[in-house]
Amino acid sequence: MNEIKIFSPATVANISCGFDVLGLCLDTVGDEMVVRKTNEKKVTITKITGYDLPFETRNNVAGVAALSLVEHLKPNCGFEIEIHKKIKPGSGIGSSAASASGTVFAINELLGKPLSLKELIPFAMKGEELASKALHADNVAPVLLGNFTLIRSYNPLDVIGISAPEELYVTVIHPQVEVKTSEARKVLPKAIDLKKAIAQTGNMGGLISGLFTSNYDLIGRSLHDEFAEPYRASLIPNFNKVKEACLNAGALGSGISGSGPSIFALSKGKDVAKKIGKVMSECFNNTAIDYDIHISKINTNGIKILETN
Ligand code: HSE
Repeated sequence: MNEIKIFSPATVANISCGFDVLGLCLDTVGDEMVVRKTNEKKVTITKITGYDLPFETRNNVAGVAALSLVEHLKPNCGFEIEIHKKIKPGSGIGSSAASASGTVFAINELLGKPLSLKELIPFAMKGEELASKALHADNVAPVLLGNFTLIRSYNPLDVIGISAPEELYVTVIHPQVEVKTSEARKVLPKAIDLKKAIAQTGNMGGLISGLFTSNYDLIGRSLHDEFAEPYRASLIPNFNKVKEACLNAGALGSGISGSGPSIFALSKGKDVAKKIGKVMSECFNNTAIDYDIHISKINTNGIKILETN
């Protein structure tokens, strides 16, 4: 195989109660990437469509992730990368994670899969580090593994895959304003009050248990965020209004997707997910802010191979 074309999906990180440790994979929105082997032992970015991003390999999240994997595997070839961005950078649905995970996945496939998907996570994290100045894995893990993922530990890295109940849907509104993860991390407190940590721990255990037992009520009761939402909500236009509208429309819960500005809601069944999409968009009627709505089941596979040559 000399060339591979992939779909690299968007993701929702944190999922309210799992700051930096929980993420889920969407299946209706993502980037496309083409990676091909070259004789010259270099990693180059040859084409970027959709958004204006740096072509210099070391300044591009896909490039940095690719370089770290190539430095580790030392293959006898180089790689050219084409990035067709559909996920706007700074959207809160894992734009940089899709690019970084996409290249490491593609290179690993082109080299005959020397590493497992879990082993690719630290290399994809190098791209996240460039984008957000933090080595978080809660977007790259669900891109690579699909489903929900839990980062049980960062040191050593221990990632657990969690499957989702069959009828679980995600609705996301992406207001077209940019919130940089690096900036959204600056507004967070350096230390967390013990009472808040207790509440967050209980909710995170509740969410995991609800996912494993398909207990939708428990999933809903667990979707609260003590760590980030209280500090980040003001960065996101209409956040409280959207959240309230989602809950009134039957959402199990709603919160900030990653570091925002996207807002997500979980629901049981497609009809409720669509109704939530409608009320989310109504919150932005009569505003000057454009938005996208994504309605998705949980993507159980992560990255999809579209073509190989
Ligand atoms: N856990 C990260 C954060 C996710 O909230 O900063 C960024 O998408």
